[in-house]
Amino acid sequence: MATAELAGKHLILGMTGGIACYKIAELTRLLTKAGATVQVAMTEAATQFITPVTMQALSGRPVYTSQWDTRIPNNMAHIDLSREADAIVIAPASTDFLAKLAHGMADDLLSTLCVARDCPLLVVPAMNRQMWMNPATQRNVAQLRADGIEVLGPDSGAQACGEVGDGRMLEPEATYEAIASFFQPKILAGRRVLLTAGPTFEPLDPVRGITNRSSGKMGFALARAAQQAGAAVHLVAGPVALDTPWGVFREDVQTAQQMHDAVMRAVPDHDIFIGVAAVADWRVDQVSDHKIKKTADKALPTFTFVENPDILAAVAKLPHPPFCVGFAAESGDLEVHGEEKRVRKSVPLLIGNLGPQTFGLDDNEVILFEAEGATRLPRADKHTLARALIAEIAKRLPDASLIS
Ligand code: C5P
Repeated sequence: MATAELAGKHLILGMTGGIACYKIAELTRLLTKAGATVQVAMTEAATQFITPVTMQALSGRPVYTSQWDTRIPNNMAHIDLSREADAIVIAPASTDFLAKLAHGMADDLLSTLCVARDCPLLVVPAMNRQMWMNPATQRNVAQLRADGIEVLGPDSGAQACGEVGDGRMLEPEATYEAIASFFQPKILAGRRVLLTAGPTFEPLDPVRGITNRSSGKMGFALARAAQQAGAAVHLVAGPVALDTPWGVFREDVQTAQQMHDAVMRAVPDHDIFIGVAAVADWRVDQVSDHKIKKTADKALPTFTFVENPDILAAVAKLPHPPFCVGFAAESGDLEVHGEEKRVRKSVPLLIGNLGPQTFGLDDNEVILFEAEGATRLPRADKHTLARALIAEIAKRLPDASLIS
């Protein structure tokens, strides 16, 4: 999550009856940590699963449960609360509440708030698989989508009732990601983005290999930012210890050759290629098929290296290349090497990391190299920077004027 990425956003978090109410405690924490203000409103049934006191403590605001609440001077909680909101999120959204929404019913505070709203509405369904699959529920969900309501999830898997199937509420982190994504401008709507991220691992024998210090954080942050900007994202990742960004298609590889092959298979369908991976320049010619042992005469092993394919240069050389963006980490003289590298790889945009000391850190500072010159972006956390870079890339697309 970027620092304060939901700062200035005010959300109504509407809770309806379901065991998934326990997930909303964590969701509230994630939303407030990201800078959003959260006004919780609960149905009577929701208060059976988690108390308003807990939700008040986590959101830092009194919780509303009744349309007859005397704390609202004009007694119009449904109007007053919804007018302040940037969005209403119903989580968990029960079968009954989806049905009420689909029919425009307004018989308690939360349903009345939804009908009276003039802001977007997002629902996060949570129910037993049979209830989810019930034709009436499916009809209601189709109606909600047709009415412009965002339906987030549901997930599939083990359910509180012991059954397994569709209907589980998205986990709090996934719900958070979907909400954060909702608020991002869709500057890459309709675009397909292919990225590489992380290090590669070049084996020496079955247990050893050569790799580098790339954490993959910048590439994963860019994949997340591109997805949030509305793109379909395919992320080819080397060995990293990172979760896949929400909504991103991930393909794991180990070696530079595998990364090259995965990229070459996928690239024809893509408009943008961003090579963030720290690809090993060399691999050993002959990988030993057994663990290399120390010998009695203490002879040192020797390896012959061969060059790996340059994935970025190969993509840029295609007859109809996507818009190609490279990354470069230099140990010195970035201003000189950055532009030289951009020209050598024939890419329109190369992003230079200011120093390999950013490896593994959450912050980064970069310079953009392009034919027109170099531009420095301010130091920021990798998610904020990723968003800024996606905006810079979107502006430079050949038919950028088509983007609304
Ligand atoms: O040559 P250098 O590794 O510094 O170039 C960095 C850029 O080239 C990055 O975008 C990186 O992902 C890409 N690259 C590549 N294949 C290689 C080496 C680098 O795609 N074999």
